[in-house]
Amino acid sequence: MTDKTSNQMWGGRFAAGPDAIMEAINASIGYDQRMAAQDISGSRAHAAMLAATGVISDSDAEAIREGLLTVLSEIEGGKFSFSTALEDIHMNVEARLKEIIGEPAGRLHTGRSRNDQVATDFKLWVRDQLDAADAGLIALIRALLAQAEAGADWVMPGFTHLQTAQPVTWGHHMMAYVEMFGRDLSRVRDARARMNESPLGAAALAGTSFPIDREMTASALGFDRPAANSLDAVSDRDFALEFLSTASICAVHLSRFAEELVIWSSAQFRFVTLSDRFSTGSSIMPQKKNPDAAELIRAKVGRIFGANTALMMVMKGLPLAYSKDMQEDKEQVFDAADNLMLALAAMEGMVRDMSANRESLAAAAGSGFSTATDLADWLVRVLGLPFRDAHHVTGALVARAENKGCDLPDLSLADMQSAHSAITEDVYSVLGVENSVNSRQSYGGTAPTQVRAQIERWKASLP
Ligand code: ARG
Repeated sequence: MTDKTSNQMWGGRFAAGPDAIMEAINASIGYDQRMAAQDISGSRAHAAMLAATGVISDSDAEAIREGLLTVLSEIEGGKFSFSTALEDIHMNVEARLKEIIGEPAGRLHTGRSRNDQVATDFKLWVRDQLDAADAGLIALIRALLAQAEAGADWVMPGFTHLQTAQPVTWGHHMMAYVEMFGRDLSRVRDARARMNESPLGAAALAGTSFPIDREMTASALGFDRPAANSLDAVSDRDFALEFLSTASICAVHLSRFAEELVIWSSAQFRFVTLSDRFSTGSSIMPQKKNPDAAELIRAKVGRIFGANTALMMVMKGLPLAYSKDMQEDKEQVFDAADNLMLALAAMEGMVRDMSANRESLAAAAGSGFSTATDLADWLVRVLGLPFRDAHHVTGALVARAENKGCDLPDLSLADMQSAHSAITEDVYSVLGVENSVNSRQSYGGTAPTQVRAQIERWKASLP
């Protein structure tokens, strides 16, 4: 029936072939060939089900299933020639199947449409990406745990507004990212559980009159169940949106951490040394070692979030059920997925390789009046001052130290008493950074004992 002079795919209805521009705007084969393996799995499951329900013969199903494996091996071996005239991966595979097995190939599309087919393929593809993100996040969390464990009690400045706030521990800072990436991991798992319903058998939009078994194809493809509404099944792309929004939040976390690594590896901070393996040099300045991987990770959020916004906009006004607009879903998701996986892997490598400079961290921890809050707390605890008064007295002492060009522990007792006469020698016990972090024993606080407890909890919870 396919007449090459009219239209290769629907020659029956169409007298003329498409304009070249029509073909160019219509075709998705340039990118949806990435779903070849998913398309072939879906078709093999569909063919087996059609035979099991008596819709097609066992011998036709067998020929289809075998022929599809041949097509897959041609594609995987780079021997397949993709045709733009055949629009997309679904038509390319089916056309090649016809060349290989002949007439039975025409029976494969019984009780199905490209609408449920593409939704199935794309879901299988996105599900693989969720699994890859799961593995990538676990690897990154493990790298962070190793850093946290090594420096659970190393002191460093904690910042608010990027101004020295209070001393914290290196392990505590690493574990903050473990919590963030841990939530990303749970979002990935939630998304996977929610999306794992099979669209296959929804057909074009209304279901089919053939006695198909949707449970059978769902389970063959690893779905938990068939999607319950055929209109929804072919027009749902929120699984892709959820992947993109989950990826966007994760990319924000990666970007924040990347920003810290850029700052920390500068000559002004020297908190960390990045490995040569994850740095680059400058073509003109011989002294330079640049944190390019961190910078690129910081930037990846732009395209990942861009993909999320783009697909949200594509979907926002679409009436039910399928519209061709939805073909624009794939490139966004492919690009975002590729870049998320790359960013996760690069961050993991950087974290594994980097060394924290314990001395620089400690020196910075002790400067900038980082224990001013400890002093105020001491005034409350020992002298019984209201916190607001203690804040005022401490502020006066910080100003005094600033004038003298020294830090709080360097002030004499006489200096201290000029701000409040009841201050005693005991105050110095709280001004050291080690004492400061050790005192932060509240649950989730920065004290090394608390940090180690969180490290243990995380290690026990990972697979
Ligand atoms: N290439 C199409 C896509 O990616 C496949 C579905 C086409 N369905 C249709 N009714 N034209 O969305």
